[in-house]
Amino acid sequence: MPHAVRIKNTGLRGVTVADTKISFIDGEKGILIYRGYRIEDLAEHATFAEVAYLLLKGTLPGSEALEDFENQLKNARTLPEHLLDALKCCPATANPMDVLQASVPLLATAEPDLTDESREAHERMAIRLISRLPLVIAAWERIRRRKEIIEPDVSISHAANFLYMLHGREPDEVMSGALDTCLVLHADHTFNASTFASRQVASTRAHMYSSVAAAIGALSGSLHGGANTEVMKMLLELKKEPDIASWVKDRLDGGERIMGMGHAVYKTMDPRAKFLKQMAGKLAEITGMHDIYEASLKVEEAALEEFERRGKTTIKPNVDFYSAPVYYMMGIPPDLMTPIFAMSRIAGWCAHIIEEKFGEAQEKPALYRPKADYVGEYCGLMGCKYEPREENKKIA
Ligand code: ACO
Repeated sequence: MPHAVRIKNTGLRGVTVADTKISFIDGEKGILIYRGYRIEDLAEHATFAEVAYLLLKGTLPGSEALEDFENQLKNARTLPEHLLDALKCCPATANPMDVLQASVPLLATAEPDLTDESREAHERMAIRLISRLPLVIAAWERIRRRKEIIEPDVSISHAANFLYMLHGREPDEVMSGALDTCLVLHADHTFNASTFASRQVASTRAHMYSSVAAAIGALSGSLHGGANTEVMKMLLELKKEPDIASWVKDRLDGGERIMGMGHAVYKTMDPRAKFLKQMAGKLAEITGMHDIYEASLKVEEAALEEFERRGKTTIKPNVDFYSAPVYYMMGIPPDLMTPIFAMSRIAGWCAHIIEEKFGEAQEKPALYRPKADYVGEYCGLMGCKYEPREENKKIA
């Protein structure tokens, strides 16, 4: 039995729990790599479909393999009728992340490969999940606004089809290209909270849809993927604020966090945030939404100055900071921003679930089972004396 390691209340920072071949981060240098490729190269040149293939299969596809993969994604653009009926029963006020999470087990009920334990079946399930999460998000947006659900268009790309089903009109090429790049940037990020949740559930041999539902729950939190929605709320509040620097200072003085800043691993600027910042600038030119972009620049500047003054120089914008204005300029409401994160990260989650289940990078995949120190009531190993209530007396 290995020697017990005691690392409490650190959120497992610095603890290595597995090997992975999927992605790598150098938090000091601000480097992110998927399967050997720098995120900058992928964001600039690769499509989301290519990156999803890379994450799932381990190598970049050739032209034929990519076309085949894209066709599989397109052919899976359907939702079971009972799922749409269930969405129509949800109150319009429901949080889109709750709706998305609840949809995943409903998708499982229509999954032909659910109990097939082969790797091939898991790849087929991954393709269906990657293809269908955007359909759920778009359908929910239409349903809650009492608009007609738009049928998918199988002649256009993954990102373009999502915008089409969301807005009900042909998407602008620049916008669908920008969304595709965002999907590339968010697709994987080693053992972040939601990916670890998915792997932990997969380690019990639960099926892929259970693992993904757990991951969506973890992503929804405001310290993780939920931060982009919080950033957008902040920017909308601040776009007319004349003194953003004082707002930032007061917030930090009050012990509150600036959302979209700081990272558990990056101690310098998140490489994805650099890309998204440039993209936000370009989209502001195109859409004329300069107020939102200017507000984000001012929050960043003021926060960096305040963090410097407080000796916290490693807190910089993370992926959620500039993705919020980017999505907003695409016409995406703040509470759909975290679901869009999920619609990208599903590729990484599925790759990790497959790695966890089939153990390609590990000597022997194990059921995760940490320990905790018990600090509650203790009356010795015999236990505290239990006095049964008269009405609870059981027949011996
Ligand atoms: N604003 C203000 N203070 C911050 C921030 C922030 N955004 N981030 C970290 N700090 C401070 C903490 O208050 C803490 O200060 P203390 O030592 O005086 O108590 C210190 O920096 C360390 O913070 P921790 O949460 O303990 O550690 P970590 O650096 O691992 O935190 C985290 C990472 C949780 C992401 C944090 O930076 C945060 O809460 N950021 C805001 C939420 C956010 O943007 N989340 C998205 C992250 S990216 C992603 O998940 C996709």
